[in-house]
Amino acid sequence: MENKIRIRPARREDVPMINGILNFAIMNTNYNLNTSPRSEERAYEWFDSHERDGYPVIVAELNGEVIGWSSLSRFREYSGYNITAEVSIYVSVNHRHKGVGTTLLTTLMTMAKGRYHCLVAVVTDNNWASLALFSRCGFFANTTFREIGYKNNTYIDITFMTKLLEK
Ligand SMILES: CC(C)(COP(=O)(O)OP(=O)(O)OC[C@H]1O[C@@H](n2cnc3c(N)ncnc32)[C@H](O)[C@@H]1OP(=O)(O)O)[C@@H](O)C(=O)NCCC(=O)NCCS
Repeated sequence: MENKIRIRPARREDVPMINGILNFAIMNTNYNLNTSPRSEERAYEWFDSHERDGYPVIVAELNGEVIGWSSLSRFREYSGYNITAEVSIYVSVNHRHKGVGTTLLTTLMTMAKGRYHCLVAVVTDNNWASLALFSRCGFFANTTFREIGYKNNTYIDITFMTKLLEK
């Protein structure tokens, strides 16, 4: 069996695996502030709207299985934010700390160059792996908003990290 990780654009049939990885994080951590799993129907809506609006979704595939994914999304609705996109990145728990996150993020950053001026990552303050990953890829931690989120009976601090892309 080939053991090579392939990074490629996501396809509609990847949506259940993408959603499974997201829902694991929702149900087992405070890193994503959703408090209930995302339904498959909502996940397809999310994927279709990304395709329609031209926001990339990429996956890391190993032996036919999606083991991680990353996407860009609209940051805020106001048109002055058209130059900015928000990054999401999730790696399946069995495949972490092997460089998959770094490969996904650097690929996404290359795709974003020339298209966006600024990338934003919204990271909960205890999410050391994420803070390290984004720092490693040149993101700068600007500001921590104290107790802006609430999940599992805990107030959660959120750090906004940004990276300005070269023109
Ligand atoms: C954050 C995440 C995507 C990192 O993916 P990954 O494939 O493990 O990342 P990498 O293997 O490329 O590691 C990148 C760096 O992150 C850091 N890192 C990774 N796992 C870590 C851990 N468990 N503890 C501390 N730092 C860690 C390391 O600094 C690592 O660099 P190094 O290998 O030189 O030490 C992954 O941990 C994840 O999916 N977490 C849950 C979902 C999540 O928090 N998403 C982000 C929401 S903003």
